[in-house]
Formats: sequence, structure tokens, C-alpha cells
Amino acid sequence: MPPTIQLRDVVDADMPIFFAQQKEPAGVQMAAFTAKDPNDRVAFDSQWASIRADRGITLQTILYEEAVAGTILCHSWFGAPEISYWLGEAFWGKGIATAALQQFLKQVTVRPLLARVAHDNVGSLRVLQKCNFVITAQEKGFAQARGQKIPEYILTLNDA
Ligand SMILES: CC(C)(COP(=O)(O)OP(=O)(O)OC[C@H]1O[C@@H](n2cnc3c(N)ncnc32)[C@H](O)[C@@H]1OP(=O)(O)O)[C@@H](O)C(=O)NCCC(=O)NCCS
Repeated sequence: MPPTIQLRDVVDADMPIFFAQQKEPAGVQMAAFTAKDPNDRVAFDSQWASIRADRGITLQTILYEEAVAGTILCHSWFGAPEISYWLGEAFWGKGIATAALQQFLKQVTVRPLLARVAHDNVGSLRVLQKCNFVITAQEKGFAQARGQKIPEYILTLNDA
């Protein structure tokens, strides 16, 4: 059975939870392409203020059994619309990211729709592939969390 999750708009009270989740060392290592200093609350607040103010970004909080499990968004920072998500470690391994992305794709109908993932983020790659994203390109980019350039896959939603 897929987990019961809900997506809702982000509220101020989510911010400290997102900050705590997005500085968890295991998540930072996994995502690789992260903030310069995930422990910098001022930088986090500034980035999130601009994300929340940007009407071109679709942004949702992921709730699992009413707890804030993480966030999912669609932005166009690199040109084409792409999705991104992050769950707190306590919520991993329950099918939450897959269920959240499936639900989010009903809201975000723009196509083409891309996603990026570090080449060794097998969990995120699997989430994307379960939701019909396919690898369409590979690049090399500087991953703050790894302190070096690493390969990343670019995936495109194939739901035609
Ligand atoms: C990556 C992440 C979103 C996965 O979330 P999740 O809710 O645990 O994923 P799901 O439970 O929906 O798992 C989907 C599939 O991926 C697999 N998977 C998830 N995490 C995995 C991991 N670390 N290693 C191997 N497989 C993994 C699951 O087994 C499942 O596969 P299956 O259905 O074939 O059994 C979560 O670990 C996370 O937020 N990590 C930190 C931030 C991050 O990496 N964000 C994405 C940046 S691109």
C-alpha cells in the first residue's frame, strides 16, 4: 500500500523543520548539489524567502500522517521547468517521495519537465524512474557537498 501523504502550501512554521531536514548530513551527502553551507540559517532564510516569493515556482509541503516530511517544488532556475524534493531522514524508505511526486505531477502539468540527480543518488533516481522520468542527458557539475565536480543525470518526464 502506498503511504497516505498530503501536499499543502508551505507555511512559516515549516521553515525550521525544512532547515533541520536540509542540513542532515546523510541527506546532504546524498543530494550532493546543495547549499554552500547547509548550517547557515541566514542563507537558508534568504533563499527560501525568494523561493516563496517567486510566483513562477510551484512549492508544496509533503505531509505524512500530518507530520511535515519534506518539500517538493518545480522551478526553472536552469531554463526549463524541473522538479526537486527533499525528505527528512526519519521519513525515508516508506514510499513517501514516490507518492508525493505522483501527486505533485497532477498539479504540475507543464512539459517538458526535467529533474536532476547526482549520478550516485540511487534512491532519488529510482523515485524518478518509478514516476516515468527517463535519463536524457548527463552533465558534470560542482557538488558542494562533495567538494568536487561529479556527474549528474538529467531526466525528462515521459508521460505521453
Ligand atoms: C531520495 C529520497 C527523496 C528518497 O525518498 P524515499 O521516500 O525514501 O523514497 P521511496 O520510499 O519513495 O523509494 C522509492 C524507491 O527508491 C528506493 N530507494 C529509496 N532510497 C534508496 C536508497 N538510499 N538506496 C537505494 N534505494 C533507495 C526504494 O527502495 C524504492 O524502490 P522500490 O520501490 O523498487 O523498492 C530521500 O532519501 C531524500 O529526500 N534524500 C535527501 C535529499 C535528496 O537526495 N533529494 C533528491 C535530490 S535529486
